[in-house]
Amino acid sequence: ALISMRQLLDHAAEHGYGVPAFNVNNLEQTRAIMEAADATNSPVIMQASAGARKYAGAPFLRHLIAAAIEEFPHIPVVMHQDHGVSPGVCQRSIQLGFSSVMMDGSLGEDGKTPMDYDYNVAVTRTVVEMAHACGVSVEGELGCLGSLETGQAGEEDGVGAEGTLSHEQMLTDPEEAAMFVRATGVDALAIACGTSHGAYKFSRPPTGDTLAIDRIKQIHARIPDTHLVMHGSSSVPQEWLAIINEFGGQIPETYGVPVEQIQEGIRHGVRKINIDTDLRLASTGAVRRFLAQNPAEFDPRKFLAVTVTAMKEICVARYEAFGAAGQA
Ligand code: G3H
Ligand code: 13P
Ligand code: NA
Ligand code: ZN
Repeated sequence: ALISMRQLLDHAAEHGYGVPAFNVNNLEQTRAIMEAADATNSPVIMQASAGARKYAGAPFLRHLIAAAIEEFPHIPVVMHQDHGVSPGVCQRSIQLGFSSVMMDGSLGEDGKTPMDYDYNVAVTRTVVEMAHACGVSVEGELGCLGSLETGQAGEEDGVGAEGTLSHEQMLTDPEEAAMFVRATGVDALAIACGTSHGAYKFSRPPTGDTLAIDRIKQIHARIPDTHLVMHGSSSVPQEWLAIINEFGGQIPETYGVPVEQIQEGIRHGVRKINIDTDLRLASTGAVRRFLAQNPAEFDPRKFLAVTVTAMKEICVARYEAFGAAGQA
């Protein structure tokens, strides 16, 4: 059944778990996420980015998610629009039937330029008024995502500030977060706490303090009723990097956010954990390996089926690690 983000995250907060929010662009991702949720009895957040709408087209995306709900009627599903760059984008998603939207007013309409607090409040508040009138939840974002190690926003996938960020820009201010939530009425707030989008988060193996856990604690203490969202939460599995590179890929040494640190975040109010890159890496590794080992194969269903298996394994692991398993 389709449910709102608020309904799901209220339940998650009450029971102390986190929900992975996976990006969807195609049938294989949708199927992997749903089969994993079915196998572990987990609730689902599927999110579509602007890039996904460009790739698949809004009608195909909407009907893919509708098909998932039809085939798995016992699994609660949130259909979320990721990184809306304007109230207009969010309005169209609400009209399309999304049950949750993100207004990312930390960046301008180009999805790159950091914007000031007043702009962010104005656009986010506009979306909250529109969305809440329709029973749709809203996620806002305050602060600029960036790796505390590299100072980079990780904008290679087109989402994130351009250039190098200061340490303070990359950490959401707890007082400002409290003001922002009061001024906008958002249901969930994406915070900057040391993560960044994409595969290149850290150049060295992460130590225990990859994430600014203290900052998460301080923010949660100020706004305990607002669900915290962690973007850029892929763990960048080293096994998949090795497979990609073994079968012709060229991905330099890189590291993601350790699952244990995400679990620590969940203990301090993080409820929605955005993951896209890990499923991309697993798909690419699975396809490269399959085609290298089966050079005479030309039925795309064969190499696409292995992507479903690879992605499903990661989804199962995250549902279990974040405590969502058994909560559907
Ligand atoms: O937040 C970013 C997601 O990874 C979506 O990326 O715009 O390439 O679909 P995308
Ligand atoms: P990753 O690039 O770490 O998977 O993050 C995805 C994300 O935050 C989508 O909004
Ligand atoms: Na989002
Ligand atoms: Zn994001």
